[in-house]
Amino acid sequence: MSSSKGRDFTNRAKTHTVNPMTKWVSRLALGIVLIATCFLLDAVKHRWYVLDPASLHELAQAAIASSPNNTAGMVEHIVSNLTATYPSSVIALNTNSKEWVFNNAGGAMGAMYIIHASITEYLIIFGTPLGTEGHTGLHTADDYFNILVGEQWAFSPGQLEMERYPPGSVHHLPRGTAKQYKMHEGCFALEYARGWIPLMLPFGFADTLTSTLDIPTLYRTIIVTGREILRNLFIGKI
Ligand SMILES: *[C@@H]1O[C@H](CO)[C@@H](O)[C@H](O)[C@H]1NC(C)=O
Ligand SMILES: *[C@@H]1O[C@H](CO)[C@@H](O)[C@H](O)[C@H]1NC(C)=O
Repeated sequence: MSSSKGRDFTNRAKTHTVNPMTKWVSRLALGIVLIATCFLLDAVKHRWYVLDPASLHELAQAAIASSPNNTAGMVEHIVSNLTATYPSSVIALNTNSKEWVFNNAGGAMGAMYIIHASITEYLIIFGTPLGTEGHTGLHTADDYFNILVGEQWAFSPGQLEMERYPPGSVHHLPRGTAKQYKMHEGCFALEYARGWIPLMLPFGFADTLTSTLDIPTLYRTIIVTGREILRNLFIGKI
């Protein structure tokens, strides 16, 4: 019994020895399938977008106008407008505007309140009353930074003058581009990103893992982000 099993195994091992050519052809085929999948996912991602940059820009400007010099008032305006505009069956929003967490990324530090997070979009309030400076990150998503309070400055290599974004303006960072940016003094912004969001997360966590080691913040960030992504998945919002 056992000896016949052993022979069986040797026979099978022999027939499974593939020649190197077949191995490379199948690896190449797998690579092509993976690349094709990426292109396909990239081509269809817009189907799941609910929010849009133009209305968010209008909303940010309306929030500034309705609550001048009052950041908390602007945030309330934004959240109540979004909950009135979008049915909860279409998109899940986090209305707890007390839920702020530190955010360290690209050398910059601030705090964020996650209004929405799903697989293809996120919307947060990000900022700091102290000012900060760093690398924007090189992302696979388009990023729209709507300034509410203060100013954001930015520049790309080769530019000798800075770009300046005052309240009411929007700084669009197309995917695949990176800049140095500075929130010179206190600055808060409504940041909207659309694309494949999970690919942005390593940038969001790298500074914590290699520098701050602020594990409670990392834990809360993962809990809140995960909870919001799941709340959206449950209603079919990818
Ligand atoms: C939300 O804000 C936009 C932009 O200011 C405005 O056009 C719209 O009427 C507001 N919607 C609600 C329900 O308040
Ligand atoms: C904004 O608020 C600050 C602090 O409350 C105050 O010092 C400043 O004068 C205000 N500015 C305007 C334009 O109302």
